[in-house]
Parts: sequence; C-alpha cells; structure tokens
Amino acid sequence: MALRRILYCGDPILTRKAGRIHEMDDAVVELLRDLRDTMLEAGGLGLAAAQVGVPLAVVTVLRDPESDSVLKLINPRIVEQEGEQEGNESCLSLPTLRGVVIRPARVVVEALDLNGEVIRAEGEGLMARCLAHEVDHLDGRLFIDLVEPDSLCWLRPDEREEAGYRTEPTTVEEAREAFDRLRKRREGLT
Ligand code: NI
Repeated sequence: MALRRILYCGDPILTRKAGRIHEMDDAVVELLRDLRDTMLEAGGLGLAAAQVGVPLAVVTVLRDPESDSVLKLINPRIVEQEGEQEGNESCLSLPTLRGVVIRPARVVVEALDLNGEVIRAEGEGLMARCLAHEVDHLDGRLFIDLVEPDSLCWLRPDEREEAGYRTEPTTVEEAREAFDRLRKRREGLT
C-alpha cells in the first residue's frame, strides 16, 4: 500500500485543469490504487488525483462505507443532472473546514474503467454531492470557490460538545490564508 501526501488548498496543481487519460497503463492502475488507499486512510468520501499532485482526470469515490467499496473513475464527466440540494461539504485538501454548497440532487457521471470501458455512475443525495465535488476538482474548482460564504466554518475538536467538535465561523479569505500558512510551513519542513 502506498499512501500519497494530500496537497493543501492554494497549491497551483489544485486549480489546474486535469489532463485526460488516453492510455491505460500500469501508472494509471497504481495511481488509482494509491488514491483509493489514501482516501480510505484519510477517512474521505472522495479523492481526485490533483489532490496528490498528479494533474490527471482520475478520481475515487467511496460507494459504500461499510465495505470500503470504492468507485474508480477515469476521465469522469457529468452527463445528466437534475434538481438541487443544499448541504455541508468538506474536502481533504481543506482539512477541518466546512461549508454549505448547492449541488444537483441527482447526477449521472460517465467515465472509463481500467479496461477502457465506458461506465456510468449514478447518485442521489450524498453520492451526487461527492460525484459533483470530485468532477469539480478536475476543473480546478474547490468547494471553497462555491461555498455559501456565511456558512463557512472551522471544526474545532471540543470534548464538551456532543458531536466532539464545535464550529467557528470564518471567511473565505481567512481560510485561504490559513491554508497558505500550512503549505508554507510544510514546504519549509521538506
Ligand atoms: Ni475535495
């Protein structure tokens, strides 16, 4: 198992448009395996290759938390969407940040599997949200770019709260600056 390091918001790779995969080779197989492992280890619901520094159109999405069943999607794109839902979102590239994003209520994604076959993934509710969030990563869009600004908050661990955390309101600018500082500190360490 090879875990890869997840990049923080502000890294230029995260705002770049991901390149399409034209050929399935061992590197793509390995990338998808690492993405899956990294996502599960981090407790995420989805992960895009750009988040581990690879600017290619490859994502994983957790299908079933019970069984660790993971969708592996190559060159995914939304081919159908309907309705609207409002709900909280977070992202492994913006750890401990949360905010409300409006997403389609239902989406259908078309992608390739590792055999180069066209597959369709359909989702409602949380699955639709995850699929839309991951496809957004391929266009270099993060949830902080779409968030309802007044809803943005940090989740701070707090054992006095039943949920185990409390929320602390923040702004888009403040949050971006916090991740810039984290990134610079990490660069200084490596
Ligand atoms: Ni994300």
